[in-house]
Amino acid sequence: MNGQKLAGRVAIITGAGGGLGAECARVLAGHGALVAVVDINLAGAQAVAASIIGQGGQALAVQTDVSCEEEVKAMAAAVLARFGRIDVLYNNAAILSPEQRAGDLDVCNMDVAAWDRAMAVNLRGSMLCAKHVIPAMLLQQSGSVMFATSGFGAQGDLTLSAYAASKAAIAMLSKSVAAQYGKQGIRSNAIQIGLVENDVHPMPAELKKILLDNHLTPALGTPRQLADIVAFLACDESSFITGHTLAADGGFSSHTPSMAAMRGFFERVGSNRI
Ligand SMILES: NC(=O)c1ccc[n+]([C@@H]2O[C@H](COP(=O)([O-])OP(=O)(O)OC[C@H]3O[C@@H](n4cnc5c(N)ncnc54)[C@H](O)[C@@H]3O)[C@@H](O)[C@H]2O)c1
Repeated sequence: MNGQKLAGRVAIITGAGGGLGAECARVLAGHGALVAVVDINLAGAQAVAASIIGQGGQALAVQTDVSCEEEVKAMAAAVLARFGRIDVLYNNAAILSPEQRAGDLDVCNMDVAAWDRAMAVNLRGSMLCAKHVIPAMLLQQSGSVMFATSGFGAQGDLTLSAYAASKAAIAMLSKSVAAQYGKQGIRSNAIQIGLVENDVHPMPAELKKILLDNHLTPALGTPRQLADIVAFLACDESSFITGHTLAADGGFSSHTPSMAAMRGFFERVGSNRI
């Protein structure tokens, strides 16, 4: 356990049945949060909830397709029925399956069904969860909402055009929430995530090396590093931060596009004098 900076707080984490969301659920529970583990994958959500309960925490697995308004509404009601309040919402769910990636390419080769799925799950899903959770936060006059975005949503890239557009829009959605409900005690922030290693989507070694060369840190991110940032934005330690997009990306978005190639050049010539 890591102290109790979220003691008694109720946190909803979407897409928490696996990947980064699962680690966020476990870490927030470790800080004392009562966690709703929300995912379209019920078995995954139940396994994560069981592991939290096994560690002495409190968790509720809720099967929800975040793109479906009726299911999201029912999920928020189930969490309120079980825990009585909602303090934290982390919109982490995204559709990243191999089939989705196969259709979400450059614009000329975009599969329109993949485009629509990305918008429905990533963007509409985040909006729907905010829509149905924020009213409970307004009653309390407090809450922290967070949205998972990506470098793809901030910088042009060669593929995943639908994913990228959905993530850019999510960053704006976060600012809308911050502006609209800030005076009622609700904060909203987006987390622009770099490459965080995830067993669910292993990446070819060559691609990983290209990405690592463009991170300023010695290593790519870990699920735990990301979960620690989510815990910080969820709790009162970050009470003056709202409307912000925090780049949790090992510096990936903070340098010139030529930096990795220049580093190789300087190493080859043995000097960085230009
Ligand atoms: N892993 C990274 O390097 C990375 C980088 C940038 C951004 N992100 C973002 O972080 C978040 C988590 O990424 P991840 O790598 O853990 O992905 P992941 O695919 O491992 O996890 C996504 C989760 O969302 C769930 N999900 C999918 N569709 C759903 C739906 N309709 N309703 C409810 N749940 C649904 C999946 O079942 C899964 O458990 C995503 O928003 C992703 O865009 C991740």
